[in-house]
Amino acid sequence: MSGSIVLFGPPGAGKGTQADAIVESTGKPQVSTGDMLRAAVAQGTDLGMEAKGYMEAGELVPDSIIIGLIEERLTQTDAAGGVLFDGFPRTIPQAEALEKIADISLVISIEVPDESIVERIVGRRMDPETGQIYHVKFKPAPELIQGRLVQRKDDNEEAVRTRLSAYHGQTSPLKSWYSEAGILSSVNGNQAIAAVQEEISALLVQS
Ligand code: AP5
Repeated sequence: MSGSIVLFGPPGAGKGTQADAIVESTGKPQVSTGDMLRAAVAQGTDLGMEAKGYMEAGELVPDSIIIGLIEERLTQTDAAGGVLFDGFPRTIPQAEALEKIADISLVISIEVPDESIVERIVGRRMDPETGQIYHVKFKPAPELIQGRLVQRKDDNEEAVRTRLSAYHGQTSPLKSWYSEAGILSSVNGNQAIAAVQEEISALLVQS
């Protein structure tokens, strides 16, 4: 498939979890604004310092910061054949900016009801060495590495509620934007991880 793919969905929908298989089957690099921002926070850059408070509160980081990050990322050579956007765009201004700098061929919306989101987020654990995402109940980590797992600062119930309201208020309107463009496909994210992956693989074959 030529062009870029957007992986879309509420917090905890499984975007990061599904990204690995998509990268493997399409060869497109994953561009996750959440991961880029967390790296900037960890490095203590000016951008990271500016983004930190918004992220910990569960609010969206201002569009100007995000659009600048993406513009810079797309200048790298590995982005020439299209990328897999994960967690971007999240607002209409971000989608408008993206339209000017990339060709989007498919938007995959992972649909998960709000009731399932809090349990997913609160139980998520990350392996800082590999970046692998686990869940205490749905995807337990091997016992050997359990001692090194960490929990994201914004993975608490209060921040999740704010993230969900940002999603419903600012991000979900993008679904009609991409549906009108004829490039939106939805998958049922409220089933086992492998079943979601199968639905996504089928979409990739069709498009
Ligand atoms: P970001 O890192 O993008 O967070 P998010 O969108 O809230 O998404 P998550 O990473 O929480 O969830 P995910 O869909 O990747 O789910 P995962 O696969 O991990 O953004 C963080 C913050 O950065 C934002 O709040 C904002 O402040 C800022 N930001 C980032 N991008 C921005 C932008 N474009 N504009 C403005 N601000 C921006 O899965 C979650 C858990 O569920 C895991 O434990 C996993 O094991 C489990 N799981 C996955 N699939 C299943 C399944 N099918 N069944 C059961 N469990 C499952």
